[in-house]
Amino acid sequence: MKELPQLFDSNRQWAQRMNSSNPTFFAELAAMQTPQYLWIGCSDSRVPATEICGLRPGQMFVHRNIANVVVHSDMNLLSVLQYAVEVLKVRHVIVCGHYGCGGVKAAMSSDSYGLIDNWLRFIKDVYGQHHRVIDAIDDPTTRVNRMCELNVAAQVANLCYTTIVQDAWRRGQQLTVHGWIYGLHDGLLKDLDLCVSAPEQLPDHYRMDASGQST
Ligand code: CO
Repeated sequence: MKELPQLFDSNRQWAQRMNSSNPTFFAELAAMQTPQYLWIGCSDSRVPATEICGLRPGQMFVHRNIANVVVHSDMNLLSVLQYAVEVLKVRHVIVCGHYGCGGVKAAMSSDSYGLIDNWLRFIKDVYGQHHRVIDAIDDPTTRVNRMCELNVAAQVANLCYTTIVQDAWRRGQQLTVHGWIYGLHDGLLKDLDLCVSAPEQLPDHYRMDASGQST
């Protein structure tokens, strides 16, 4: 029995549209991909990475998880990052959060949601570092949104502390890490001005020397 026929129908229509605008589009993409960007974003269905940047298939390598968290022992994320940087040689890694993130909101509460509580711990720790500033904000929506921004900042830092990013810089590879946030209410991206493109911009104890030891 065929399931979800509406998705297959809309897929066929999409493939036809792509083909009619460029008959060699799929053949070229099947041969190789040369994305310039790696996107690390939230799994939220309202934040489709490629689409909101107006890009086409083949232009952006994507990793998504709940609340766009970069965990230094997450083999899934590290594999995506290593492949994107060392094999695909992307020029930009973008951590993009979004305002009103349910994961961030949940991490700021004492509610329990099951297994995911373990994942939200990473954000709870970020909240713990900033809770005085955050808790001083009266408006609950603004409070969550500010935490969404601070979470992006923390994950940008975590990315820059990975050996993958630092090895790339040491090899002289051009690579910039960016921190962005997306507005669900207006569909617009905002640059949080957190760009890092060299190890000198990191705190000393997270910077590694040529032998791979912390300096
Ligand atoms: Co989210």
